[in-house]
Amino acid sequence: MHKILLLAYRWQNYSFFLINTINLIILLKKNTYILAIESSCDDTSAAVVKDGIVICNITANQDVHRQYGGVVPELASRQHLLNIIPVIDASLQAAGITISDIDAIAFTKGPGLLGSLIVGVSVAKALALCLDLPMIEVHHMHAHVLAHFTSEQKPPFPFLCLTVSGGHTQIVLVNGYTEMEVLGNSLDDAAGEAFDKTGKMLGLDYPAGPIIDQLSIQGSAIFPFPEPQVAGLNFSFSGLKTSILHFLQKGIASNPDFIKENLNDICCSVQTSIVDILINKIIKASKITGIKSIGIAGGVSANSHLRKRLIETGNSMGWKTYIPAFEFCTDNAGMIGIAGYYKYLNGEFANQMVTPLSRMAF
Ligand SMILES: Nc1ncnc2c1ncn2[C@@H]1O[C@H](COP(=O)(O)OP(=O)(O)OP(=O)(O)O)[C@@H](O)[C@H]1O
Ligand SMILES: [Mg+2]
Repeated sequence: MHKILLLAYRWQNYSFFLINTINLIILLKKNTYILAIESSCDDTSAAVVKDGIVICNITANQDVHRQYGGVVPELASRQHLLNIIPVIDASLQAAGITISDIDAIAFTKGPGLLGSLIVGVSVAKALALCLDLPMIEVHHMHAHVLAHFTSEQKPPFPFLCLTVSGGHTQIVLVNGYTEMEVLGNSLDDAAGEAFDKTGKMLGLDYPAGPIIDQLSIQGSAIFPFPEPQVAGLNFSFSGLKTSILHFLQKGIASNPDFIKENLNDICCSVQTSIVDILINKIIKASKITGIKSIGIAGGVSANSHLRKRLIETGNSMGWKTYIPAFEFCTDNAGMIGIAGYYKYLNGEFANQMVTPLSRMAF
C-alpha cells in the first residue's frame, strides 16, 4: 500500500511537471492574435495583429458624407452598423484564421463621435462575451502615435510625435508604448479641419485634404497668409481660416472667377502655410526637449508636402525622422491592434462595464 501511494505521489509530481512543461511549450509556441476594431468617425476598420505585427487591416470608407461637405454623425453610425460585421469577416479571412483563433479584442473607446464609437464598442463587448475573450480599450490618439510601430523602422523612446488629424493637432512626447504626454495642442481648429474648411470655401469635396494636396502639385505658393503667433507649443488655425475667407471674398469681389482661375495656386499657398506652422512648432519642440527622433502621425501626415518638409527639415537639423505608411496615417484598426497588443502584454484589460467616450483625457 505504501509503495502504491509513493508511486502515485511520484506520478502526480511527474504529471504536474509534464503538464506545466507542455503549457510552457504551448505558451511559447502559440501566437497571440488580437482582433482590433476602429469606428471612431466615418471609417469602419478591422485588423488582425499577430504578436505585435499587423497581418491585415481592412477599412470600409463612407462615401455618403461627401455630398454634405462633412461627416453627418447619424449617417456615420448607421453605416458602421452595415459595415462592421462584413469588415471583421473580411479581416479574419485575409489573416487566414477563424474567430476561435483570436486571443483578445481591442477596440477604440474614444475620443470620437459617440454614435460611431457605440457600434465598435458594442460589437467588441458582444464578441468578448460570447467567446469569453479579454477586451482591451484603446485611446484613438495613442493609437495614431503607435501607428509608427506598424512599420519595420520603429522610432526609439523617447521620441516626439506631431499628430495631425481631422480633430487634433498635438505634439506628443512619447516615452513608451503606454507613456505619452501632450506638450502642445490646438487651441481651436485642427490642421485637418483647416484643410477641410478651406476645401469647403473653394467648393471642393469632403475630405478636402487629399484634394488640396493633389491640386497643389500644379500650383505655386504665391499668396502669403500670416502665421498665427501662439505661445509655447500650442497651435491655432482659426485665424488662418478667417484670413483665407477674407482673401477669397476680396478676390471674388474683383473677379467672380478668381477661385477657378487660381485654384492650384490658392491650394498650394494654403497647404504651404499650414505645413509651415506645423514644421516651425516641431522644430521648437525639438529645441526645447533636445529630442531628435521626430515622427508624424494622423490623417494629415499623409500630406505629401508635410512628408517632404519633415524629411528636408530632419536632414538640416540632424534629426532621425519617422513617417508611417499611408494606410496607417488615416483612421485604421491596425494602429488600434498595435496599441492593444502592448496593453495586452501589460495585462491591462477592460470589462463588460466599459462605455465609449466622445471626449477622453489623453
Ligand atoms: N493628403 C492629405 N493632405 C492633407 N490632409 C489630409 C490628407 N489626407 C487626409 N487628410 C486629412 O486627414 C483628416 C482625417 O484624418 P483622420 O482620419 O486621422 O482624422 P479623424 O480620425 O477624423 O480625427 P481624429 O483622429 O482627430 O479623431 C481629414 O481632415 C483629411 O482632410
Ligand atoms: Mg483619427
